[in-house]
Amino acid sequence: MFMANIVSANSRYDQYMQGKTSALNTEEIEGLALVNSKCASCHTPPLFTDFSYRNNGIDSVFTDTGRNHITQLPEDMGKFKVPTLRNVALSYPYMHNGRKKSLNDVLDHYSSGIKPSATLDTSLQNGIPLTPAEKAKILAFLNALTDEDFVNNPAYAEP
Ligand code: HEC
Repeated sequence: MFMANIVSANSRYDQYMQGKTSALNTEEIEGLALVNSKCASCHTPPLFTDFSYRNNGIDSVFTDTGRNHITQLPEDMGKFKVPTLRNVALSYPYMHNGRKKSLNDVLDHYSSGIKPSATLDTSLQNGIPLTPAEKAKILAFLNALTDEDFVNNPAYAEP
C-alpha cells in the first residue's frame, strides 16, 4: 500500500496539462514540443515511457547484454527498459550503468554520440541532431518534470 501511495503527478508539466497555462514558460513549452516530436516514441507521455526495451546506442559492444540476458534472444542484445523522465533532473547519473553524468551529457549522446550496432533502434540510426538552442529548451522542459510537492513530501522522507 505504501508503494502504491507513492505517485508523482503534480509537476509543473502536470499543472500545465490540467489547464494552468502559466505553469510552463515559453522555453519549457517549446521544450515540450521538441520532446513530443523527438523523444516521445519511446518516452511516451504521461509517464514518459512506453515500457518497451530498446537499444538507444550507448554501446556497440555490450558488457551488460541487457534484455538479452533474460530472454537469450539475439534481437534483445543491448536493449534496456525505457525509463520514465519524471523527476529525471534529480535522478543522475543516467542510463543503466550511470554512464552519463548530466542531462547535458544525455542530450549530447542523442545528438552526436549514438553508437551503431545490429540492435540499435531504427529511429536512432541517424541520431537526433539537436542545435544548442533546442538542447536548452529540452533541458528546461526536463527540469519542469520535477514534482516539488512529491520530492519534498515528509511522508516519503527518511524516518
Ligand atoms: C529509441 C527509443 C528512445 C528515444 C527516441 C529516446 N530515448 Fe531516452 N532512453 C531510451 C532508453 C532505452 C533509455 C535507457 C538506456 C539505458 O538504461 O542504458 C533511455 C534513457 C534516457 C535518459 C536517462 C534516464 C535515466 O533515468 O537514466 C534520459 C534523460 C533520456 N533517455 C532522455 C531522452 C530524450 C530527451 C530524448 C529525445 C531527445 C530521448 N531520450 C529519446 C530510449 C529512447
